[in-house]
Amino acid sequence: MISKRIIFILYILLIFFKSQPSKAQPWVRVGYFFYESESYFPISNIDSSLFTHLICGFADLNSTSYELSLSDSANLGCSMFTKTVKKKNPSVTTLLSIGERTDTSVLSSMASDSVHRKSFIDSSIKMARLFGFEGLDLWWVDDMSNLDILFKEWQDAITLEARNSTGSKLILTAAVNYAPIIHSYNYSVESIQQHLDWVHIRHCVDFFPQRWPNFTAVPNALYNPSSTVCSTDLGITAWINAGLSAKKILIFLPYFGFSWTLVNPKENGIGVPARGGANIQGRYMGIKNNINLYRAKVTFDKNYVVNYFTMGTSWMGFDDVESIQKKVSYAKEKGLLGYFVWQVAYDDNWVLSQAAAHELEGNKGGQNNSAAPEVKKVGQNKQSYSLVDEKAQIER
Ligand SMILES: *[C@@H]1O[C@H](CO)[C@@H](O)[C@H](O)[C@H]1NC(C)=O
Ligand SMILES: *[C@@H]1O[C@H](CO)[C@@H](O)[C@H](O)[C@H]1NC(C)=O
Ligand SMILES: *[C@@H]1O[C@H](CO)[C@@H](O)[C@H](O)[C@H]1NC(C)=O
Ligand SMILES: *[C@@H]1O[C@H](CO)[C@@H](O)[C@H](O)[C@H]1NC(C)=O
Ligand SMILES: *[C@@H]1O[C@H](CO)[C@@H](O)[C@H](O)[C@H]1NC(C)=O
Repeated sequence: MISKRIIFILYILLIFFKSQPSKAQPWVRVGYFFYESESYFPISNIDSSLFTHLICGFADLNSTSYELSLSDSANLGCSMFTKTVKKKNPSVTTLLSIGERTDTSVLSSMASDSVHRKSFIDSSIKMARLFGFEGLDLWWVDDMSNLDILFKEWQDAITLEARNSTGSKLILTAAVNYAPIIHSYNYSVESIQQHLDWVHIRHCVDFFPQRWPNFTAVPNALYNPSSTVCSTDLGITAWINAGLSAKKILIFLPYFGFSWTLVNPKENGIGVPARGGANIQGRYMGIKNNINLYRAKVTFDKNYVVNYFTMGTSWMGFDDVESIQKKVSYAKEKGLLGYFVWQVAYDDNWVLSQAAAHELEGNKGGQNNSAAPEVKKVGQNKQSYSLVDEKAQIER
């Protein structure tokens, strides 16, 4: 009797699980994390349930041995990263990123010499295994001349190592410029297609405040009606046209904005006269603090797919919930692999990460996720006008 009942229950359970749509998660939701002295954010605060992959940055490269190191307080946390973020989400996959902090000449010198490349590659795999990372990422967009051979040798070494490892094969990814051929840069799309699991496509830098001081602009915009070269959509389209498969592409979700000083505060749209960059807080958390503090009105421009607000003569273009959701829908429509967030510590109570994750699930029906929950302040973020070194943090 009892065993019959158990069998019946098992049978029901079997039917239940079989009838579930296969929860294959083809979507990749990547979050970058790196430490910044100006805004302390402990790794244990990361809500890893909102991501499929988390990337810790940034390992250094020794300029004589070309081996990786985690050498100071800014990146030592990476050694505990995997263990820490898996507490909230045991199935999150972690990657270690290399490059951003390293002098580009050291990276160029590593990539241009086969002995240096081998030291680099072997030590990267060793470090990944040592600290439980399941993948490696290169964040370096300044010199493409030897990337094709570097990616090939790196992937070959990873494949070889996997045969002899108890762990699964390491993932290999990289950040790339927003288009395959731009300015003096020229990527080997074939090598990327063949040797990398995916790429993180960055935004165009032409409309950064330092380069474009006289008019407000939106480097993060999905579309740019006033440019034929510079927008997220144009960049992604260029990569696909150059032969990169959509399933190798992650769209950029920037959790920061760019600011200008307006000539006339009354004239405050996109492309209006400005006088250089303004020093207002560039991280989403700080942006929201300013908006709340000054009761600034936020405008969503659906042609560009970007948000902006004015505060006196300061003007800021950034991605709020609407822009993030639209970019995720775009990624879905284009059949991309997913998105990546730069960086998780800039979010404000996970508002953006939740909006992105929900948009991805196609959760548009019953739940109203177009509205950002009332923003609570996270930590002490009082420097409303703190100077943000966008160049150092974002452009590299
Ligand atoms: C770099 O590597 C060399 C050779 O192994 C070593 O002597 C040196 O101490 C390393 N430098 C740093 C900063 O770790
Ligand atoms: C594979 O693993 C064995 C045992 O740990 C080791 O002796 C051997 O050197 C490894 N081979 C390679 C190619 O790493
Ligand atoms: C870019 O590189 C490819 C080969 O990697 C080459 O065929 C092509 O001519 C290059 N294009 C430019 C504009 O340099
Ligand atoms: C901005 O305006 C100044 C003054 O008219 C001019 O000298 C400069 O070249 C302009 N910059 C750009 C990037 O157009
Ligand atoms: C979603 O919520 C916002 C703010 O609470 C509200 O203004 C909007 O009308 C709601 N949208 C829908 C579709 O319910």
